[in-house]
Amino acid sequence: MITLALAKGRLQEATLARLAAAGIAVSPEQLESRRLVLEDAAGEYRFLLVKPGDVPIYVEHGIAQAGVCGRDVLLEHEPDVYEPLDLGFGFCRLVVAGRTNASWTAANRLSKLRVATKYPRTTQKYFQRRATPVDIIPLTGSVELAAVLGLAECIVDIVETGRTLAENGLVVFETIAVISAQCIVNRAAFHLERARVTQLLERLAPAMPPPQSSTVCEDHTRAKTTGFPPASPWR
Ligand code: PRP
Repeated sequence: MITLALAKGRLQEATLARLAAAGIAVSPEQLESRRLVLEDAAGEYRFLLVKPGDVPIYVEHGIAQAGVCGRDVLLEHEPDVYEPLDLGFGFCRLVVAGRTNASWTAANRLSKLRVATKYPRTTQKYFQRRATPVDIIPLTGSVELAAVLGLAECIVDIVETGRTLAENGLVVFETIAVISAQCIVNRAAFHLERARVTQLLERLAPAMPPPQSSTVCEDHTRAKTTGFPPASPWR
């Protein structure tokens, strides 16, 4: 049996839909229950429903052989896992945003730029590349509020529909990365259980390959796939 760690929240519904489309179904009774470990009807797969940031932890430690989470999580945590498959759903952007009149790029600012975010490492790295000194204000949710109320000059956060920004009078200044759902695989499991992992990847692969994104902060995760077999047998 293969264990998959799945991200609860934003990606959960689409992930379960992709699994169901692949013939891997979880019963509604299990989904409605408070159980944290679920199984598919055929008894082939076990699912752990965890917070998005915890998905790579379960996979890296080998508790789950594979997992599904957003690329934002991988950028932030840089887990030591294979990233063989872009699932082609859950598209959104990681952006720098703020109030329309914010002077966040002012060259001669006297104090560091205050940036509120749920992604402190990605944010630090991004502004470091721009040679912009920042004070990171780590938050765990409703990050937009920080820019609205002046806790920070700007935020780094996920934008999906753009509604939260628009309804709070904020705009996107720059896009840091295009995000989508990724299937990740434990390194040892990929080699030791290759047949079963490959079968899973084949079943989950999108019908159309997703567009390649090129963004400022992506290179390190791309580099981490080096060493992964170049001619992926399932694509
Ligand atoms: C995410 C993100 C934004 C919002 C963007 O928050 O942090 O707040 O979604 O979505 P939109 O562009 O479609 O409006 P989430 O719903 O995960 O909740 P959180 O703010 O509590 O983290």
